[in-house]
Amino acid sequence: MTEDFNVKLVEDVKTYTPDPQYRKNAWMGDYQKAYSDFQKDPDGFWEKMAKELDWIKSWDKVKEWNYPYVRWFVNAKLNITANCLDRHVNDSRRNNVALIWRGEEGRERIFTYQKLLNQVAKFANGLKKIGVKKGDCVCIYMPLVPEQIIAMLACARIGAVHSVVFGGFGAAALNMRIQDAGAKVVITADITIRRGKAIQLKGIVDDAIVNAPSVEHVVVLRRREPMVDLHEKELDFYEMMEGLSDECPAEVMDAEDPFFILYTSGSTGKPKGIVHTCGGYMVGTYYTSKYIFDIKDNDTYWCTADPGWITGHSYIVYGPLAVGATVFISELTPDYPDAGSFWSLIEEQKITIFYTAPTAIRMFMKMGESWPNKYNLKSLRIIGSVGEPLNPEAFEWYYRVIGKSRTPILDTWWQTETGMHMITTMIGEPMRPGFAGKPIPGVEADVVDKDGNSVKPGTGGLLVVKSPWPSMMRTVYKDDERYRKYWYTINGMYAVGDLAVKGKDGYIMILGRADDIIIVAGHNIGTAEVESALVSHHAVAEAAVIGKPDTVKGNTIKAFVILRVGNQPSDKLKQDLLHHVRATLGPIAMPSEIEFVEKLPKTRSGKIMRRVLKAKEMGIDPGDISTLEE
Ligand code: WT7
Repeated sequence: MTEDFNVKLVEDVKTYTPDPQYRKNAWMGDYQKAYSDFQKDPDGFWEKMAKELDWIKSWDKVKEWNYPYVRWFVNAKLNITANCLDRHVNDSRRNNVALIWRGEEGRERIFTYQKLLNQVAKFANGLKKIGVKKGDCVCIYMPLVPEQIIAMLACARIGAVHSVVFGGFGAAALNMRIQDAGAKVVITADITIRRGKAIQLKGIVDDAIVNAPSVEHVVVLRRREPMVDLHEKELDFYEMMEGLSDECPAEVMDAEDPFFILYTSGSTGKPKGIVHTCGGYMVGTYYTSKYIFDIKDNDTYWCTADPGWITGHSYIVYGPLAVGATVFISELTPDYPDAGSFWSLIEEQKITIFYTAPTAIRMFMKMGESWPNKYNLKSLRIIGSVGEPLNPEAFEWYYRVIGKSRTPILDTWWQTETGMHMITTMIGEPMRPGFAGKPIPGVEADVVDKDGNSVKPGTGGLLVVKSPWPSMMRTVYKDDERYRKYWYTINGMYAVGDLAVKGKDGYIMILGRADDIIIVAGHNIGTAEVESALVSHHAVAEAAVIGKPDTVKGNTIKAFVILRVGNQPSDKLKQDLLHHVRATLGPIAMPSEIEFVEKLPKTRSGKIMRRVLKAKEMGIDPGDISTLEE
């Protein structure tokens, strides 16, 4: 972590207060009361939430905190799919629409709750038939199509632990995730469709399973005609379901049974397999989908993330379906067929709740107001943001141009590790551009110095969470030491890894990562991962990677590379290196710039000082360089 976080804050931002109707009609009208109820009786608060859901067996105790380990809803039994599907089907809502998918050229697919349940049950029976059992790991590497969600829910149905890998990762990144989790089955598709073009997915899986002996089967969704041939070990997604029953009993899961693994970048070359469990995750995502997004029966809710990220897990799949929402998803990109694509979908589907990322908002700003202004966006009632700080300029634009100076903006701060929203400005509360907001009821977050003392308003520090919450990660898969580090770094609190500033009235402004993670277009990229991908190229001796501020992507990646003797810097070599990173980690981790250098700044103990590289790159003072060698 960096030591220099003496940020001072000028508090002259405007405040926007939504129409009082918002607060009056919201599921959680009185935020202050909810927060003080939580403070008076934290377990009682969460117990009340949990009771809104169906359990096979109730808990003996709400929480057992044995620092740094927690168990929530002790000894309770449940299955999350019974809450996401059966509960609505049995509750006269079976014909409600669960999922609307939109592909290119107007293609649309609609699933009612009943139909989704049938498909999930059939696919779950298929997984059972090929030998998948409770506790087995299944890797899902798919495009943004309904089958991706069906595959996730089918795993949850039978208690298999899914590890979803975003389709933008390359073969080496996929291989590492398959191997680490020991995945028995990989579910994929022949292609993903981006901007009118088919991009191979299965070819990447073929490469990724070469050194992955745990993989017994690959299930392939074949989208293209003529269908690709299947080889040994491979099964067709729909053929696997043929002739199987559309009923599949929901596996009885203990609240603390592992639910899924999701990899996130860390400060070493190896991503962390964040482990979430069944009960607490269900309660946390249900609670926030209902009370933060304020989802109602007549909403059409669209989160533009991919289910392959935590945002998609929590706020496309599990949370909204647990609430019984109508979820819209689309494989279209914001710039295809043109820069109006998202706005045309909002008009077409009459989207009411829209959740996207600052990087997308900044791209929309760049494209100009004329695009959104061509479409009728008046169905929108709430607009949200997640992934990185929503800077005040982007806030103002989003509020005025998309929200028509009317809809509240939910700038939600949270992480893969937290599972659910943690900090935001609740519907109806005054909004302050640049500030995410306050901890939500159920969460005790604060900004502290490195010893854990709460900082004074107007100053910066480290963001922490002071007590456990139901949907927190339980461990890092096969690396519990890394889990313990989160709780052992700052005086017994959960160390988030972000720098933040505390403003007036407890509003929190998130500044960004305090560690070696770069957020590029909303994706977490570890400097160490990119560096080791570069170093795995035969011409590279050493590499250091930094994030450079970018007005659209938030950050771009710049790599400094020392070549091995016998190699000469050239544009051709730069292209080779970029290609190599792309093939290894995927397009999302590609540097925008490579500079060949003779030396890298290092500490006497040999650690690369990226901070010095960054300061030099940006022409600013590098701060304390007393540990720099020579
Ligand atoms: C990191 C977590 C949570 C889903 C998407 C990312 C940054 C996230 C915000 C926000 C400022 C934010 C933080 C955090 N972040 N949301 N609203 N304002 N920063 O999940 O990949 O686990 O990344 O994203 O730095 O620690 P993730």
